[in-house]
Amino acid sequence: MVENRAAGASLDRGFWTVTAVLALLSVAGIVYWSTAPLDTIMPVVAAQPGEQVDELLRFMAASGTALFIFVAGYLLYFSIAFRAKASDGPDAIGVQIHDNHVLEFWWTLIPTLFVVLLSYLSIRIWYQIQIAQPANGLVVESIGHQWYFTFRYPQVNGEVTGEMHLPVNQPVVLNVTSSDVIHSFWVPAFRLKADMVPGLINTIRFTPTKVGRYPIVCTEFCGTDHGLMSGEIPTVDGKPNNGAEFLVVDTPANFQKWYHGWQTKNANVSNALPTTSGTVALTGGDAAAGKALFAQKCSACHALGPFSQRIVGPGLKGVLHDPTHPNLVDGQPATPADVASILQKGFTGSLGTMPNATANGLSDKDIANLVAYLNSLK
Ligand code: CUA
Repeated sequence: MVENRAAGASLDRGFWTVTAVLALLSVAGIVYWSTAPLDTIMPVVAAQPGEQVDELLRFMAASGTALFIFVAGYLLYFSIAFRAKASDGPDAIGVQIHDNHVLEFWWTLIPTLFVVLLSYLSIRIWYQIQIAQPANGLVVESIGHQWYFTFRYPQVNGEVTGEMHLPVNQPVVLNVTSSDVIHSFWVPAFRLKADMVPGLINTIRFTPTKVGRYPIVCTEFCGTDHGLMSGEIPTVDGKPNNGAEFLVVDTPANFQKWYHGWQTKNANVSNALPTTSGTVALTGGDAAAGKALFAQKCSACHALGPFSQRIVGPGLKGVLHDPTHPNLVDGQPATPADVASILQKGFTGSLGTMPNATANGLSDKDIANLVAYLNSLK
């Protein structure tokens, strides 16, 4: 015989005592996570929005701890309080609570509200990292290789190797990709991580807030020497680890010194095409025809926004007029002839491949029209 009582009727003194004990334990857990010194498990935060990431971690750890205490505590209590008694028949089953609408209402509402709150807190940070466009952001690129990182800066030819430098308190837009396999760019002190995927540009935004030297770590297994792509391991068998990379946050003055140093050092470096003088006659290019062609042939990979707005290749608005636009992939400042040359010959560089005119099905006239169109975007 099955006895079907309302769930409330079976909640005796024992249940409420256990609930009180679990509540006390949960409060202790919440207090612990609200005040725990996180820098015993993570380096001190050195960039925004790192502090908000830590707050989210505290919130998730506190609520997760309380949830775990209640679930595990009730599981233990119920399995003891409602265990089968020696006097029960072989076909005895427990109290049935099916169709208890009050219970169903609350166990739907509470988790839903919790997930909505968690989403809100996460999306707030996600927006800053992924979507917000900081004013005067410094656009920098990092490229993963087996097994080291390289960096590209506006107005610096070629690639910067070794340490990556950034000025303190300036917003940074960092575009990352890979030249070979999947790597991942992680700076623990910044609480930020982005996968470096060949053929794809991932972007993160942050503002370094503390001058210092912070390890960059690859967190995607990328081959035999994956472990060496870590500033955490500055030496191997007593010798300097040449793959080890650090991110150095400088004062603005020191950053300028370092930056101009690389401008000078790389002044003669060029990823140049065999010849950069265009062989396409550009006179008579028709911007309107170029616009239609751009929508058809180019817009899958290039946005018409600022340089930092990447799809596969960079945004092309103002490419021929914006003095802050970095040099072209071939290391040259953008001129109509040079843009035409890239359109004609294509380019394979550290960031990926731009197909040539044959692959794109572009005639010389098409190239002239496209250049006229790009030239009209200011
Ligand atoms: Cu690069 Cu792991």
